[in-house]
Amino acid sequence: MEELAKKYGPIMYLRLGYLNHIVISNAEMAVQVLKTHDADFASRPLSIMGKYGGFEYSDVVFAPYGDNWRLLRKICEEVAHMVENIAKHNQEGKPMKMRRIFHELTNNNICRMLFGKYYCFLGKEFDDLVDCVIELGEIASKFNISDLIPILKPFDVQGIEKQLKHDMIGGGTDSSAITMEWALTELICHPKIMKRAQEELDTIVGKTRPLLMSNLPNLPYLHAIIKKNFRLHPPLPLGVPHLNAKDVQILNYKIPANTTVIVNIWAIGHDSKVWKKPLEFDPDRFSNSDTKVGGSCYNVLPFGSGRRQCPGLDLAQHMVQYGLATILHAFDWFPQPGIKLEDMNMMETLGALCPKAEPLVAIAKPRLSSQIYKQCA
Ligand code: HEM
Repeated sequence: MEELAKKYGPIMYLRLGYLNHIVISNAEMAVQVLKTHDADFASRPLSIMGKYGGFEYSDVVFAPYGDNWRLLRKICEEVAHMVENIAKHNQEGKPMKMRRIFHELTNNNICRMLFGKYYCFLGKEFDDLVDCVIELGEIASKFNISDLIPILKPFDVQGIEKQLKHDMIGGGTDSSAITMEWALTELICHPKIMKRAQEELDTIVGKTRPLLMSNLPNLPYLHAIIKKNFRLHPPLPLGVPHLNAKDVQILNYKIPANTTVIVNIWAIGHDSKVWKKPLEFDPDRFSNSDTKVGGSCYNVLPFGSGRRQCPGLDLAQHMVQYGLATILHAFDWFPQPGIKLEDMNMMETLGALCPKAEPLVAIAKPRLSSQIYKQCA
């Protein structure tokens, strides 16, 4: 889609099935949709995902813009603010499948807030929950033909409807886990950057006690790394589609009512007119800048912006910052034996969510005294 935008421009019309779509691919156009005409574009298109995954459009992600959505949104924001403490981890010095560990971290925080329940990392119940979240992400990544050609709806040609009816649970947990897996991968590939982040941690936290949440504001280099990672690897590369309930004029373009509007977050974060070396992992350019990832800087929009912006933004940022800072402070990280840094697989999965195509397997070596790991347990 980024290639198409280079050819046809930052606002592109696509007719998919019977439905009108526009794709927004730069910051200037994103301001029009997410700020200037935010209220007009604040609805969501109908989709099979919203019907079954979104409980008949009654959950906050898929609810049409209106009173019900406002209520749900308030609850979400309250829940997100409740986050204070995040589970801490320590591991033995053998290769670990990091995706599952990050899922445990993010799922447990959200589950504890929503259901008052902690899922045991090694238990089957937790495994089932993680599998459901991953599966829902995979289903959301499929283009559902009957959303685009409604006449095909009764036939469920891809079997998506059947799958969704089967698994009606999910959550905003996958994106935080995806973020941490990408960030750790980038740091393993860039040992000098990892070392600098650890030096910052050693200066602020020291090596004789575990990291506290109150240390987080004093770690600017870590924040720069996370921002850089959000720009390079936005977990939802195309966000969640918007819809305008009435005709809207943006700059010279008239957007007819009921158009599905896709903001291409990935293309905006990789725009070579804004970012000099868009594919490079270089936190320094963020460390002295005021660039924020929370929706006020339209050149980097991992959480979207405006009325439908992600309400889990603060929670997700806290989880990612605390999770990443803790594992960097406590351990040195290496690729699994036999894999050279230059051979690390950096392919993205193509879909609504954008995890690493190949899950990260890494080796952790403790860098603090064994007493501290006992305190964390
Ligand atoms: C790194 C982590 C996360 C990223 C990058 C992310 C990103 C996004 C994006 C791009 C959107 C669509 C915004 C738009 O429509 O313009 C969104 C919506 C949403 N996110 Fe997140 N998200 C993350 C974590 C979370 C968490 C932890 C939660 C829940 C606690 C959450 C709950 C939601 C909900 C409920 C919506 C729909 C909001 C609405 O439609 O009004 N997200 N997120």
